[in-house]
Amino acid sequence: MNIDLSSVGMEKGQQYETIITTINKDKDKNAAPIGVICKDKDKIMCRIFEGSTTLDNIINQKEFIVNITLDPILFTLATTGNIPEDLFDKSNISDSDSLVNLKNTDAYLKCKVIKIKDAIKKSDPIRKSEAKVIISDVVDIVLNNKCTKAANRGFYSLVESLVNFTRIDIVDKEKKDYFLDRFLESKRIINKVGSKEDKLAMDLLKKALEDKGYSINND
Ligand SMILES: Cc1cc2nc3c(=O)[nH]c(=O)nc-3n(C[C@H](O)[C@H](O)[C@H](O)COP(=O)(O)O)c2cc1C
Repeated sequence: MNIDLSSVGMEKGQQYETIITTINKDKDKNAAPIGVICKDKDKIMCRIFEGSTTLDNIINQKEFIVNITLDPILFTLATTGNIPEDLFDKSNISDSDSLVNLKNTDAYLKCKVIKIKDAIKKSDPIRKSEAKVIISDVVDIVLNNKCTKAANRGFYSLVESLVNFTRIDIVDKEKKDYFLDRFLESKRIINKVGSKEDKLAMDLLKKALEDKGYSINND
């Protein structure tokens, strides 16, 4: 199969939010939202913090599934607990299989690990704990929706910033400061995971805010 991640809307160098499903040696299924960086048309990379079931399962099985969906309920269930059994696609799992995908996704990628290395990213504002970087080949793409587009936080952050821009002149000082803080946070996210168009759009928006007399002090 000719693997090309652009078929699921993934471009080289960009990060997308996905749900990774894995399985342990007892065939217990697990799902967790994980950011996936597209390294090439058939390669991905993710950074997973120590202590997660996903990381343990990937280290043990060397295989996993990246589910591509924009379903808010799947993302929320996977974040707040685990996804219920009936939302995993059991038809694809056999005794010898270490892969399981979710039902009703736009697409999913079957991935085989090439390399696992240590990674400590001190710039992460949330956690400074240890993580592993996992580089994998995408060996199959199952496309359920021809218009699949993997979620990218950059665009959503830009839209939020644009909405706040349209309101900033009509709110009180406290809310203005809040919007400017949000703008800086969106800029940080976009610098990290956004497309070059998202970055350019944020520069335009920054200029528009400055033209209105707002100062953006943390660049
Ligand atoms: C949108 C989103 C993206 C996430 N990306 C990552 C990631 O790239 N790496 C990571 O270690 N955790 C990430 N997380 C946090 C994990 O999903 C979370 O720690 C989860 O509890 C791990 O579950 P598990 O123990 O079942 O593997 C993300 C969470 C969300 C909501």
